[in-house]
Amino acid sequence: MEIRDTMLPVLGPKGGEEEINALHEVIESGWWGKGPKVAEFEKTFAEMVGAKYAVAVTSNSHGQDLVMKALGIRGRDIINPTISFIATAMIPLWNDCTSNIVDVDRRTLNLDPDDVKKHLKPDTDMMIVVNMAGVPAPIDEIREFYDGFILEDCAHSCYTEGAGLKGDAAVWSFQAVKTMPCGDGGMITTDDEALYTKLKDMTWFGVSSTWSRSQGASGKPGYAWDYEVDHVGYKCYMIDLQAAICLEQMKKLPDNLAFRRHIQERYNDELSEFIETPVWSDTVQYYCSRVPKEHRDSLIDYLADKKIHTSVHFKPLHKYEVLKQNREYPVADDEWLKLISLPVHNRMVEDDIDYVIHWVREYFNKL
Ligand SMILES: Cc1ncc(COP(=O)(O)O)c(C=O)c1O
Repeated sequence: MEIRDTMLPVLGPKGGEEEINALHEVIESGWWGKGPKVAEFEKTFAEMVGAKYAVAVTSNSHGQDLVMKALGIRGRDIINPTISFIATAMIPLWNDCTSNIVDVDRRTLNLDPDDVKKHLKPDTDMMIVVNMAGVPAPIDEIREFYDGFILEDCAHSCYTEGAGLKGDAAVWSFQAVKTMPCGDGGMITTDDEALYTKLKDMTWFGVSSTWSRSQGASGKPGYAWDYEVDHVGYKCYMIDLQAAICLEQMKKLPDNLAFRRHIQERYNDELSEFIETPVWSDTVQYYCSRVPKEHRDSLIDYLADKKIHTSVHFKPLHKYEVLKQNREYPVADDEWLKLISLPVHNRMVEDDIDYVIHWVREYFNKL
């Protein structure tokens, strides 16, 4: 097979006329900030997830931070998994908390309930539980011995049936390479009305939205310019330009996920004699295959030569200097050296899948 001219990215967003038209409509409307599109997106997203409330924010990371701030969690212990994006271990540090990083289950790469139990502390106030690559985390098992706050990180599970409903709140990501991207954006969902009410105003300095105040919220005609502020707030609300893209991406989500699952199926079927295939994921946020350690880096280089980008999801977080812990991680330290993520995204076409399969097979056949 001939080597292609252009690089095949490992991840990437796909938009089209629908997103362009939606952006055009918002630009023409004269209301670019947080307004009717955000309200519509919050409502439809909450319905999809089956949560009572949704608050749209600038990112999953800001969403996690805001939940900690709304709950007043400061200087406490927060448990999170070592196989994850750095956000989940670093955000506790933004709030002067200890990031108590635990080991993962060998097969799912989700946090391991036994290790959680072992490292639970009297001041553990929150657990950030990631559905790694879209595979549901063992929240039921954790609930058997922990009744504190569980923040379900659904950055990779948009959307699998039941995701976001087992924790006390869930955070979602619409960052550029996620399954429903808008460039950058996030959502917090919860059934807790008091938490929701607090979160909503905290996205903008504790001030209620200008959109609602322009819609006669005061009961008087005209723009209600005055507002009360009784708690500290931040600036992390989603704007209509982002929500307009998300709403279009949401309509395309079923087809986009079906195609991602098709890629997963083809890799599973046609590469399983060479690679350890990942646990089935309904979102296939990443296709985290595993190969023998001695081949991982050379396969990455080999595929790069063939113009195929791959990645590693993820280098264990306890390996970063800023997050160093004083303990052993036998599973993550062993498994991560085998991890290689193959391209999965909605810009791919059937020829791209053939191309990846061909060169992975070639690599192993030539050994
Ligand atoms: C597990 C996990 N949590 C949180 C984030 C952060 O999401 P965002 O970029 O929307 O802040 C990511 C980003 O990739 C992630 O993978």
